[in-house]
Amino acid sequence: MEFSVYNPGDIDEIRHLFTRTFTDSESETEGAIVGNLAYEVMKTTGDNDLFVFVALDHSRQPGEQVAGCIIFSRLTFDSGIDAFLLSPVAVGTDYQGKGTGQALIHFGLRTLKDNGTELVFTYGDPDYYCRTGFAPVSEAVIKAPLPLSHPEGWLGQSLVSKEIEPIAGKPHCVEAMNKPEIW
Ligand SMILES: CC(C)(COP(=O)(O)OP(=O)(O)OC[C@H]1O[C@@H](n2cnc3c(N)ncnc32)[C@H](O)[C@@H]1OP(=O)(O)O)[C@@H](O)C(=O)NCCC(=O)NCCS
Repeated sequence: MEFSVYNPGDIDEIRHLFTRTFTDSESETEGAIVGNLAYEVMKTTGDNDLFVFVALDHSRQPGEQVAGCIIFSRLTFDSGIDAFLLSPVAVGTDYQGKGTGQALIHFGLRTLKDNGTELVFTYGDPDYYCRTGFAPVSEAVIKAPLPLSHPEGWLGQSLVSKEIEPIAGKPHCVEAMNKPEIW
């Protein structure tokens, strides 16, 4: 498996990966929602506010090589701290349970750190994301950009120090993530 920055020409294949993976794990409706979300984030977010990383299986034919994908979009704080939000994340059903998701997230976090990112947040299953350095974040320390239906899923990590220092005020997410129903 090779890990790399995505090729914007692969955006339709990546949408398909998210749709298929979440259809398999949850439902057709959820698959369509997450596939569309991933597509919209990639399509509408500016280059400075977006990192997309893929796991590629070169044993497959071109057009079918994206085995996993993670998307980071900018979280903007008034303080100006460099922060990103990791969402969504998918590893194709055939590839799950082999360490690909964790290795891809570690690859992404290293790249963000090298680019000067200080804080990374995500909103998901703590049992999974705690394996890659994330820990639950209280909204008394860092507010989420939108109201959370599952506050226990608000997770974060600092790439530059041991702990996340409190920041006053609410951050803004990119337009494509600014949807109450996904939070
Ligand atoms: C969640 C997902 C990205 C994990 O990728 P992966 O490559 O299968 O994961 P890894 O091989 O790195 O890690 C596997 C471990 O994570 C655990 N794990 C996988 N999905 C999990 C989940 N949703 N919640 C908690 N733990 C999970 C596995 O049980 C396994 O544990 P073990 O090592 O103790 O056996 C992938 O399974 C996926 O895309 N699932 C469907 C979509 C999804 O739920 N995405 C969002 C995650 S919040």
